[in-house]
Amino acid sequence: MALSSSCFLFSALLLGYCFLFVATQAQVPAQQTFKFINRGEFGQPTAEYNANYRVIQTKNINFFTYPFQLCFYSTIPGAYILAIRAGIPGDQTPMRWVWDANRNHPVGENSVLSFASNGNLVLAEANGRIVWQTNTANRGVTGIKLLPNGNLVLHNAKGRPIWQSFDYPTDTLLVGQSLRTNGINKLISRKSDTDGSDGPYSLVHQENEGLYLYVKDNYGQLIRYSGWGYAERAATVVFDGKAAENHNSTAHVLAFTAYRNQTTLPPPSDIFTLRTLNYNTTLSFVRIGSDGNLKAYTYQVGSNGRSSKWEEGFAYFSTYWASLCSLPTRCGSFGLCERGVCLACPTPKGLVSWNQSCAPPKLSPCQNGAAKKVNYYNVTGVQHFTDNVANGGEGMSFEECKSKCDADCKCLGFFMFEDFRCIIATVLGTLRKAEKTTAYIKY
Ligand SMILES: *[C@@H]1O[C@H](CO)[C@@H](O)[C@H](O)[C@H]1NC(C)=O
Ligand SMILES: *[C@@H]1O[C@H](CO)[C@@H](O)[C@H](O)[C@H]1NC(C)=O
Ligand SMILES: *[C@@H]1O[C@H](CO)[C@@H](O)[C@H](O)[C@H]1NC(C)=O
Ligand SMILES: *[C@@H]1O[C@H](CO)[C@@H](O)[C@H](O)[C@H]1NC(C)=O
Ligand SMILES: *[C@@H]1O[C@H](CO)[C@@H](O)[C@H](O)[C@H]1NC(C)=O
Repeated sequence: MALSSSCFLFSALLLGYCFLFVATQAQVPAQQTFKFINRGEFGQPTAEYNANYRVIQTKNINFFTYPFQLCFYSTIPGAYILAIRAGIPGDQTPMRWVWDANRNHPVGENSVLSFASNGNLVLAEANGRIVWQTNTANRGVTGIKLLPNGNLVLHNAKGRPIWQSFDYPTDTLLVGQSLRTNGINKLISRKSDTDGSDGPYSLVHQENEGLYLYVKDNYGQLIRYSGWGYAERAATVVFDGKAAENHNSTAHVLAFTAYRNQTTLPPPSDIFTLRTLNYNTTLSFVRIGSDGNLKAYTYQVGSNGRSSKWEEGFAYFSTYWASLCSLPTRCGSFGLCERGVCLACPTPKGLVSWNQSCAPPKLSPCQNGAAKKVNYYNVTGVQHFTDNVANGGEGMSFEECKSKCDADCKCLGFFMFEDFRCIIATVLGTLRKAEKTTAYIKY
């Protein structure tokens, strides 16, 4: 008895030692390691944002899995972003950038992407300064792969991901990619086509609330302007492109599916179908754009000699979903909007014709809410862009709403719905035609 149990202990120890040995010794085989220097010719046009790009290919890995390709791209000469491209040269539409590694910290010419035997993927400037890395040194990584769904994966000997680009979305989700409570929970827009750094718009997953669109005001506060409410708590929300259920094979959907747990096991707690389409949506992405709109696109693979293209399948602000006039900056910093058109610029003297220079009145300095004298002019029959999702403000009288705005230096105006619901606006933007609501603009 004593003998057999110590024998057992001994072999268990040995086994443990073996595991330890394997775990610390697992490394990337020499032929998979690389150092790619960012220099040389640019690839063929045409890529999104009019970007120049260099395809990343090493002696043993080409980082191309149709239609995805790992690249460096630049919209400003000499400022490069490590990214995943979707689409191929010769497509009818520009190739899209669906994942960025370092969009807030571009690298220069001759920067180096390296994958060492310790399993860390590192992006460094020519002088060696590290700009971005996966932090996966000595964690059992044995290889790197770009999967057919566009996920860049560093995997271990068992093929399990240790790091994956799907866990680090920027402004885009590919099919199967998710926002999570215990991970990255939001998409953030780029500033513009040329400036890829963080912009003011975001799509945020909020476990106990929903999936909402936000815009940042001048004070850094996030203002909700649209979105979906969850019926129950959700820990993760996945972007889906798949055949529609209860339909025949010609119907496909784009959808957000929310799950209570991190592991996306059925049943889902919420499904928000964005659009039902008559083409295969397996290769799709959804993105929060630099204009604040949320759009989804599907790659339609060409046939009969025709080249492939990205087709817009869904736009949140559009003719078939939410009104274009509910986009915060549809009319720039200020303007009256109806059916997607900017009709007028509201001024203290009344409505004048609109152009891009239409702006809210410039206010005199205000400290601790104590502006000397506060004046308002009204614009009847308009709604603030937050109106559909605004919380609170119910049961407030005109006087209460006004004195709240009077006392708040950040308040640029307030909106009253039928004299009992008050919205305080720290950003005005687009005013949408609506009944029973009046805007009072500070000047
Ligand atoms: C499939 O659905 C389409 C559109 O709803 C319809 O026109 C078509 O007849 C259906 N086909 C079959 C085989 O049910
Ligand atoms: C998933 O969530 C439900 C309800 O919150 C919980 O009871 C269950 O244990 C969770 N399952 C896993 C695998 O986490
Ligand atoms: C949709 O396309 C994907 C890959 O492009 C393919 O694997 C899948 O079978 C297609 N689905 C349908 C329903 O045709
Ligand atoms: C824009 O509109 C304002 C007021 O209507 C006007 O004063 C200004 O000249 C216009 N600017 C341009 C560039 O048209
Ligand atoms: C808006 O302003 C006009 C002119 O100042 C005034 O006659 C009208 O009563 C105001 N309307 C509201 C709803 O406050």
